[in-house]
This record gives sequence, C-alpha cells and structure tokens, in this order.
Amino acid sequence: MAKVKSRYVCSGCTYQVPKWVGCCPACQEWDSFILESPSSAPQSHKAHSLTTLLTLQEIKTSEHRRMTTGIKEWDRVLGGGVLPGAFLIVTGDPGIGKSTLLLQVAEKLAAHQTVFYFSSEESLQQVKNRADRLGLVADGIRFSDQAQLDNIIDTVLEHKPHIVILDSIQNCYREADSKTIPGTVGQLREAAHLLMRLAKEHGIAVIITGHITKEGLMAGPKVLEHMVDGVFYLQAEDRWQTRILRSVKNRFGEVHEVGFFEMGSAGFTELTNVNQQLLQQIAAVPGSMLICSLEGSRPLLCEVQALCIQSRPGIAQRVVTGLEQKRVVLIAAILEKYLGIAFSAQDIFFKVSGGLWSKDSATDLGIALALLSSYFQKPLPVKSVAMAELSLTGQVKAVNNVGPCIKEVEKFGLEHLYCAYDQKLATSCKRHGFKSVYELLSLFPEA
Ligand code: TYD
Ligand code: MG
Repeated sequence: MAKVKSRYVCSGCTYQVPKWVGCCPACQEWDSFILESPSSAPQSHKAHSLTTLLTLQEIKTSEHRRMTTGIKEWDRVLGGGVLPGAFLIVTGDPGIGKSTLLLQVAEKLAAHQTVFYFSSEESLQQVKNRADRLGLVADGIRFSDQAQLDNIIDTVLEHKPHIVILDSIQNCYREADSKTIPGTVGQLREAAHLLMRLAKEHGIAVIITGHITKEGLMAGPKVLEHMVDGVFYLQAEDRWQTRILRSVKNRFGEVHEVGFFEMGSAGFTELTNVNQQLLQQIAAVPGSMLICSLEGSRPLLCEVQALCIQSRPGIAQRVVTGLEQKRVVLIAAILEKYLGIAFSAQDIFFKVSGGLWSKDSATDLGIALALLSSYFQKPLPVKSVAMAELSLTGQVKAVNNVGPCIKEVEKFGLEHLYCAYDQKLATSCKRHGFKSVYELLSLFPEA
C-alpha cells in the first residue's frame, strides 16, 4: 500500500509543501506553515447501505422568506436579507467593526427570529458594554461566550434558533484538538464543515466572523470561501470615516454589491447618500474627472484625480491608489502612442476618491480624461462624467448595462456625459460621443 505523507500547509493561503519552510513562497508570510497529517491511509471500498436518488419533481422545496433587518445597506448587500440555512462569513481587519455590525444586525433580526450569539472572542461583559454603548436593549438575543464547537452545535440543535452568530470562527476549538491553538487551517476547515452541516441540515442561518491577515487575506481563506454561501468584507474607507460592506461571494445575491456605513460613537449608521456627499466636494480643477461604476447593482459616482508632472531623469514614478496600477499605465501608454504625449517622461500620481478599487472597464475614458486634464492643466466642466472603455487600438468603445449609471447621473443633475459615439442610451445630459482617442484633444482646444 502506498505510504501516505504528511504535508505542511500555509495558514495564510493554503499553499502546500512537503517539507517545512520559514517563508511561504506564495504569500510571503513568515512562520505560517502547519503540519497536516492525513487522518488515515486511504482504504479500499467497503460495502455501505444504498442511498436514494430523486428526480427534480420529487425534491421538496419550501418558499424561503428572507430575514430582513430594516438596515437597508446590510439587507441589500446580503441579496435582500438572510435566508434560512445560509452559511455566511463577515470578514475584515481586526477592529474594523465586525462585532459591532453583527450585534446591531442581530438586534434587528431578533425582533422576529430567535437569535443565538456566541462570542468566542470576547467576554459577555465586553459584549454587554458594547450593547450599552450602542444603546441596544437586545432582549431577543441569547448570548454565550462558549468557544467549544461541539458544545455550541449541541446547544443549537437542542433549541433550534433561526439564526446563529459566531464571533469569531478562529477562536473556536474542538475538544480533540485542544492541544493545538485555535484558528489553524485544519481546525478552521473542520469547524466550517460542521457549521455548514448545521446550517444545511437544519435550515439554521449561520453567520460567522473571521479576521484577515495583514496581507488582506482571511486566515485559511480558500478553505472557508469554498465552504460558505456568502463572503462579505467589511473595509475602511479613508475619506468619510465610512465602512464599506462588500459581497465578494454570494450564492443568494449579487457579488460586488456594496453597502456604506458610518462608524460613530454609537455604532454604525447607514449612509444611503454617498453620491450626494461626493458631489458636494467636487470642483472644476485640472486632473479631476467623475466616473460612474456599477458596484454590484449599485451605481457609484467616484472622482478620479490625476497629477502628471515632468519626471526627473531615470524611471518615471507611477503611484496609483483605488485602481489597478496596470490599468492607469496602460491608458497612459494608449494616449502616448496615439496622441504623441510623452507620459513616459511624466511622473503619474493617480487616485480614486474613497478608495473604491473599481475594476469596471467603463472607467477607462474617465482615467484618460483625468490624465489629459492634468497634463494640459485644463479643467473639464464640473458637472461631467465619463463612461466608456478604451481599446489598445485607441478606439473608444461602448459599454454594457449603463442604465442604472445614467439614472444616477441624472438624479444628481450632471450635465455632460462623455461616452463612445455609438453608445446606446437615452439621457437628458449633453452627450459627447467619441470614436477614437484622437478626438479627445478637441476637449482641450488651447492646448
Ligand atoms: P469591533 O466591532 O470590536 O471590531 P472587530 O469585531 O472587527 O474587531 O469594533 C472595534 C472598533 O470600533 C474600536 O476601535 C472602537 C470602534 N467603535 C466605535 O467607534 N463606535 C462604537 O459605537 C463601537 C461599539 C465601536
Ligand atoms: Mg470582534
């Protein structure tokens, strides 16, 4: 019989190596490898009892009602509320506000559902202090500081609540593994598996929290991401002390959906008018341009800011925040090739307001216009927004699904829309259509 070998698994990114190494070749985390011994050697097939197979007609479904909180930003990001039997993880940096958000959510859910809140990370006094600070009565929630997973599962099975919140999964442990530290890859995988079965077999919604490492990865991230129905990142957004809740996986709703919250002295409040806040701060200055990108189902207006200055001899600098650096470099290269502007001799500093990290290719034209506006030191009209993709051949391309963005643009009274000449849309804005990047120069006539 073949010998079954042990392997070392990185607790940051699950990279596997046969021998221990100090630094992970994949994620560069130090001292992250943990020995994983196979539980048993592979065994030959044994006879088991047979399983029943069903046709689609024979499978019983029930109309699941989503459990809403009335916190609109949360409900929308979750795809309309929490479904019974859903297994979800809320993750983010330590101290970002996961426990605060979940306590507020739990309180709303407890108005109509039974909610068990297991705080494996903090003592019950700490939870109570937080609830007091938030001004929550939270009579409907049952709290426990139990961290032993089998105990948690048995308790849940005994009482069958609608919703279980577990804060955090990394602090849970199983009796058999008590010699090892909680939160290792093997333990997380096992804990997640048990909780998934609890959710699926008993229709109980399970919401867990998990920290991310300093590289922005969840500890054992791939393990958990595969096993849960939804992954929601809570992120800080530098400008308005706001927090963004972002769905990166959701079996029951849209991905890339974003919700905005403001963290105050009494917890989170929803921010439903972020676009309004942004527009109040916009001015017609060189290098500034508005883009509208669709984040999930939500159109978001963002200001892109470019600063181009003659670089010193040597390699020109490219400092980009809020976007992929490659995109900005690529668009500068397109402009250099077709318009003959020497961006390669310019230091380029580029920023998207609010650190939104948009990946929408409809932002290409806005990036190009911000770069040109900074290069020529000429502002574009203040109430203008750009929405088009650029091809490597210098063509300005129409983009799909602009409807929600156009609605938002009109709602906030923007007047000029820069887009592809053949972009199909109906708008009350003044439309400036372009076929190729050559035509962009017409916006900077005195340059
Ligand atoms: P917490 O929810 O404990 O974060 P996490 O669970 O993600 O580790 O939030 C901790 C931070 O939030 C802490 O820095 C204090 C701050 N905070 C407020 O600003 N206002 C509040 O009302 C509360 C409860 C916390
Ligand atoms: Mg916490």
